[in-house]
Amino acid sequence: GDISNRSEKEKLAEAVSSKVKDGDVIGVGSGSTAMLAIKAIGERVNREKLQVKAVPTSKEAAFTCAYYGIPVSSLTEVKPDWGFDGADEVDSNKRLIKGRGGAMFMEKLVIASSPKTYILVDQSKFVSRLGEKAEVPIEVDPRAIHLVEEQLIEHCEPTYVHLRKAAAKDGPVITEAGNVILDVRFPDIPHTMEKQLKSFPGVVETGLFIGYSVEILYL
Ligand code: A5P
Repeated sequence: GDISNRSEKEKLAEAVSSKVKDGDVIGVGSGSTAMLAIKAIGERVNREKLQVKAVPTSKEAAFTCAYYGIPVSSLTEVKPDWGFDGADEVDSNKRLIKGRGGAMFMEKLVIASSPKTYILVDQSKFVSRLGEKAEVPIEVDPRAIHLVEEQLIEHCEPTYVHLRKAAAKDGPVITEAGNVILDVRFPDIPHTMEKQLKSFPGVVETGLFIGYSVEILYL
């Protein structure tokens, strides 16, 4: 995350921690804002001896929950009462781009399983046109990389297609599910695009979140 808006993210973390009630099963997102929220929730849980369960969306989120003393469970065992997560972009129709951290597969499973998810966003995340700044991440089975690239070019007229590379390691980013990520720009993102991309053989998930039950939380 960006150091300059850290205090804005901390206030959002504080705001979401105040929503926790005893007995809650909470979907826990990934990214720097979500990590701050986990810390704030952990402090409340320990101080007030609350019984809660977290359903994390990444190994980083799972570790951070455990580190701050929040018990962790999974979608196989429990259904979240509500959840929280960050986003890379939000438009005026509450459409989201997520997945800068590469965790959009689990993030989508948890958001789709939760009656309500608070999306914690600082001012930099609001856009008038979805895809204005962020690329759309597409998680692809590595065996389908050429097939998916071809389908994108044939059906979606992308202006930019880039295989995500790892910053610290050499080679591509490999997701928790063992897949690779294409970061893609489109001239425009219609409401049907999330489902269209998902229909291409080899696409595991995308960072487009359109029509989920989210409440945008901002300062
Ligand atoms: C993780 O895969 C992403 O979807 C994050 O939720 C998103 O990148 C927001 O991250 P920050 O809270 O660090 O801005």
